[in-house]
Amino acid sequence: MSFAHFVLYLQQNCNIHCMEKQPIIITSDLAADLSAAIRQLSPDRLFVLCDQTTARLCWPLLSPALHLPEAPSSVSQPPSPSPASQSPSPSFAPQSPSPSPSMTPVDGGPSAVAPTSPASLVPSLITIPPTDEAKTLTSLASVWESLSQGGATRHSLLINLGGGMVTDLGGFAASTFKRGIAFINIPTTLLAMVDASVGGKTGINFCGLKNEIGVFRNASAVLLDTHFLATLDRENLLSGYAEMLKHGLISTPQELHALLRFDIEQPDLAELQQMVARSVAVKENIVFQDPQEHGLRKALNLGHTVGHAFESLAMANHRPVLHGYAVAWGLVCELYLSVKRLDFPRETFYQLLDFVRDHYGRFPLDCREYDRIYELMTHDKKNTAGIVNFTLLGTVGDIRINQTATKEEIFDMLDFYREN
Ligand SMILES: NC(=O)c1ccc[n+]([C@@H]2O[C@H](COP(=O)([O-])OP(=O)(O)OC[C@H]3O[C@@H](n4cnc5c(N)ncnc54)[C@H](O)[C@@H]3O)[C@@H](O)[C@H]2O)c1
Repeated sequence: MSFAHFVLYLQQNCNIHCMEKQPIIITSDLAADLSAAIRQLSPDRLFVLCDQTTARLCWPLLSPALHLPEAPSSVSQPPSPSPASQSPSPSFAPQSPSPSPSMTPVDGGPSAVAPTSPASLVPSLITIPPTDEAKTLTSLASVWESLSQGGATRHSLLINLGGGMVTDLGGFAASTFKRGIAFINIPTTLLAMVDASVGGKTGINFCGLKNEIGVFRNASAVLLDTHFLATLDRENLLSGYAEMLKHGLISTPQELHALLRFDIEQPDLAELQQMVARSVAVKENIVFQDPQEHGLRKALNLGHTVGHAFESLAMANHRPVLHGYAVAWGLVCELYLSVKRLDFPRETFYQLLDFVRDHYGRFPLDCREYDRIYELMTHDKKNTAGIVNFTLLGTVGDIRINQTATKEEIFDMLDFYREN
């Protein structure tokens, strides 16, 4: 079956948004949709990458789709928690005799292709330590090692079950193992659902630099299911919601106002699923037009020029903040610039400002740190020749990329942020 037929099949059989070569499935039946996706890819072996937290909390939601027992320990034993900065040691369960009567392990040589139903594949669970500190070369190497020891071939499939750390690292591991094997992303944080798991950016941190090594490569499918969010903590939920606010700002006033009205503190997960579907479509439409970020994709940087500087400053001050919080504060600052320079509607600006203050609080800012923030902005890898580059808005949905601002304008923006 050709890829086009595969996509057509998914469109007809699942609730699917199809973008370029990355089918995004807004699933109402995870087991059925995952089984269909695996069947169509016909892998010879199946691997599932989790971090230790998602192995414990999210695997039980996925295991019925793979006809497996609910306890992850029956598939593999994650290593005892260790500080993420220490050398991570992933656990790996080599394909073993069937852990449930309904399963038969694939019994073929390394090059064997066994196009079978998911029930005939015994997935091997690979776990790595959680959080961004584990997005390292060491973790990556151990995932490669696990794939290799597990007999993965070019026809094997890796399922990444986790937040953006897992989908970034797992996507990169799959893209490079044997010059590239297929992978499916099943994001379990809101940030990964609306941002990290889609758009084709994969990679790891290296030499203290975020996402320094990586490739652009799409997942064979992305399955979105907000049921996973039932266990996610408030801060990580809000962190992902900031990217949804950004998508609302670059799409339509209706979408933005729906986001500002929604109760993200006590979310209705069914309603959130629909909002996630619309949010992810905003990103994919942009990525489809500019996959390698030559122009339009810079729209997705709204809030990020200031946000990254706040994030870096917080890190340097040993008070790290979640990425989405920095983006939310960055959105306020960059919309202030949009009001000043491009006449962005003030009423909408103040609605966003109130929402961010109410839910995200404030970034603690001291005017003695302005020079440092300015310096961080000029050194952002997305900027050239010391010029600070912003994405601003004329109004909601009116995207203006490659906007610059003087040092005075930036300091005025920071004054406003500090005083309001
Ligand atoms: N590729 C891209 O385009 C892109 C875009 C944005 C961010 N990113 C990357 O994404 C990463 C951040 O992603 P993130 O915010 O999802 O962080 P994360 O993957 O580190 O997850 C945050 C925490 O939530 C836990 N968790 C995950 N799912 C859970 C669930 N359902 N219930 C309870 N806990 C759960 C994780 O174990 C972790 O401790 C960063 O590495 C960032 O660089 C990539």
